[in-house]
Amino acid sequence: MSNVNNYDRIADLYDLYVTAEYDIPFWKKEGLGASEVLEVTAGTGRVSLPLVKQGSRVTAVDSSWKQLQRLQQKAVSEGLQLDIVKADMRDFDLGKTFPLIIIPFQSLQELTDPCDATAALRRVRAHLAPDGRAIVTLHHPSTQTCGDGRLLRLVDESVLPNGNRMLFWLARSYDAEAHIGTSYQIYEEYDVDGLLHRKRLFTPRYRVFERIDIEQRIATAGLRITNAWGGYDWSPLTDESRFMIYELKV
Ligand SMILES: C[S@@+](CC[C@H](N)C(=O)[O-])C[C@H]1O[C@@H](n2cnc3c(N)ncnc32)[C@H](O)[C@@H]1O
Repeated sequence: MSNVNNYDRIADLYDLYVTAEYDIPFWKKEGLGASEVLEVTAGTGRVSLPLVKQGSRVTAVDSSWKQLQRLQQKAVSEGLQLDIVKADMRDFDLGKTFPLIIIPFQSLQELTDPCDATAALRRVRAHLAPDGRAIVTLHHPSTQTCGDGRLLRLVDESVLPNGNRMLFWLARSYDAEAHIGTSYQIYEEYDVDGLLHRKRLFTPRYRVFERIDIEQRIATAGLRITNAWGGYDWSPLTDESRFMIYELKV
């Protein structure tokens, strides 16, 4: 198996720059009434915690122990409970099944070897209750190839607990032949005098899946597509969509 993107390296910064909320209403609606939810690639709980607050019992799986520690700290500080499991999505066995399994934030694409995506989907299949459903999200391939991603953009600026400023810069490159994108994430911490204290580079790689490829892998894993949406507003999946969001059943 190829290596995973090591989010341990930026777990202390993740919540400062990942402030996206565009998909939270979707997950809250889809999670309504689910007694138990398995979130694969839960990270620091951006999606898990709203689902716990809504009444679901959540099991959070992630390969980064530091991301999960952050999630645990946040849950404790808010008086919430959830089950946390450090595991690789390609190879985990929790010994139970779930009525709802989710892979949000297009995180299946963290697996750059396409066979690994099939392996992860097989693990989803193995943990799905007979009448359960899974929801797996990906970027639509058309969104990955447009524009000049190599331009470095200032994406966010925040003030750290020590009063220093953190700037978050982003650029992307895309290898169309290999279907592999690389995200160049640069974090710079400046003190009040504008002196650079720390600079950190994180370069997670991700796979861009063509629709036909991922749909074949879903079938190979023993799952069938019961809904295919193109956005978090439940719009139909078309060639112009931004996302590929699949509802899957056994
Ligand atoms: C972009 S973050 C998304 C986290 C969270 N779901 C969210 O919406 O903010 C991707 C997460 O996937 C996790 N991850 C990457 N490869 C993984 C693997 N092979 N198995 C389990 N988790 C993995 C990373 O550790 C990271 O926490």
